[in-house]
Amino acid sequence: MEKKIFALKGNICFSRDKHDIETIPNGYVVCENGICQGTFSKLPERYQETPCLDYGDQLIIPGLVDLHVHAPQYPFRGLAMDLELIDWLNIHTFPEEQKYADLEYAERAYTIFTDDLMHSATTRACIFATLHTPATMLLMDKLEQTGMQVYVGKVNMDRNSPPYLCEKSAAQAAQNTEQWLLACAGRYKNVKPILTPRFIPSCSNELMKQLAKLQKKYHLPMQSHLSENLDEIAWVQELCPETQFYGEAYDNFGLFGQDCPTIMAHCVYSVPEEIERMKHHKVFIAHCPQSNAALASGIAPVRQYIDQSLKVGLGSDIAAGFSLSIFRAMADTVQCSKLRWRLADQSLSPVKIEEAFYLGTKGGGEFFGKVGSFEPEYEFDAVVLNDTALRHPQELTIKERLERLIYLAEDRFITAKFSNGVCLFDNMK
Ligand code: GUN
Ligand code: FE
Repeated sequence: MEKKIFALKGNICFSRDKHDIETIPNGYVVCENGICQGTFSKLPERYQETPCLDYGDQLIIPGLVDLHVHAPQYPFRGLAMDLELIDWLNIHTFPEEQKYADLEYAERAYTIFTDDLMHSATTRACIFATLHTPATMLLMDKLEQTGMQVYVGKVNMDRNSPPYLCEKSAAQAAQNTEQWLLACAGRYKNVKPILTPRFIPSCSNELMKQLAKLQKKYHLPMQSHLSENLDEIAWVQELCPETQFYGEAYDNFGLFGQDCPTIMAHCVYSVPEEIERMKHHKVFIAHCPQSNAALASGIAPVRQYIDQSLKVGLGSDIAAGFSLSIFRAMADTVQCSKLRWRLADQSLSPVKIEEAFYLGTKGGGEFFGKVGSFEPEYEFDAVVLNDTALRHPQELTIKERLERLIYLAEDRFITAKFSNGVCLFDNMK
């Protein structure tokens, strides 16, 4: 294979750990065959012949990671924010997702979603589709074209769902999921399937058993929801009286990260046993502060998760969250943690900007392997940011400029984006 090597030059920013953001003014980051070779303040002798893209005074950061987003809900983001979770699902969300039985609607809606994700700072995402296989494949085909590295899940639901958005039986749901998996096999380079039971209230015990079998057979990662809302948690307790806590309703079927990488969105009200189990099984928590505020679900104790070294990344959770931006998720993580600290629990100190940046890059990136940093051996995802529109009369350090971008970045500030060593777009070319 031809050796593909290049360097980017600019103001480099990335995390090695959650405490600090490392910055290299006028530095270099080198990519060889899709893998980061490290960062340098002067280009070493061995790279003197390496092609170098010079982005001048712009900032270069690792691509952002969205661990939890519902593609079919994108059309109603910013609408219908008047209800709590269960009513919001029944009244707004399920009727919207039903529309994806119609491939023409799916084509129009998923074109917009894919386009907007492509022009955001996100390079990796874990995406819920709907239970419709043709529309899910259409979404996967579109995402494949972009070069972003994403997981997509055909959603499973066989109970407590309206008849128009409910599979006929557990066996039928599992069979549809297996057929979808077979249809995906060998079809994609950038897009991978992920097992997606919607949440415990929508999935019967029989369906969970069948999904566990499929997970073993195909060794599939999994994504779902956990302990998001108090009424939801009480409902799960009614549906699964044998469980001590919500997470056990997944764990009892072997679907809680035992064998395959697993993401649980929210974890606003996880009890100590649930937290312990997630830590033990290395479950990734997708922290979605904007969604948790919009549905008045609560504020997750993300400070505790960070301090106890659980695996945590950020999610936009469109359309319970209204913004697709993971920069916004970083800012909301900080803001919500401050409100929680002030109003509810002084034992958990606010999240710092360095920590929020870590969660939105390396924290979530770990779900994909070595992703989300510019350390050597990391898969090369990078975003180039032009912050000249954020005018300032005073001197700012590179780190201060990044901090302002976290709060104020807009998609139009993104000059170029790379994923897995491939340039997805470059407005300077
Ligand atoms: N729980 C089950 N389905 C959903 C969904 O679509 N969004 C959110 N936020 N929570 C859920
Ligand atoms: Fe969600």
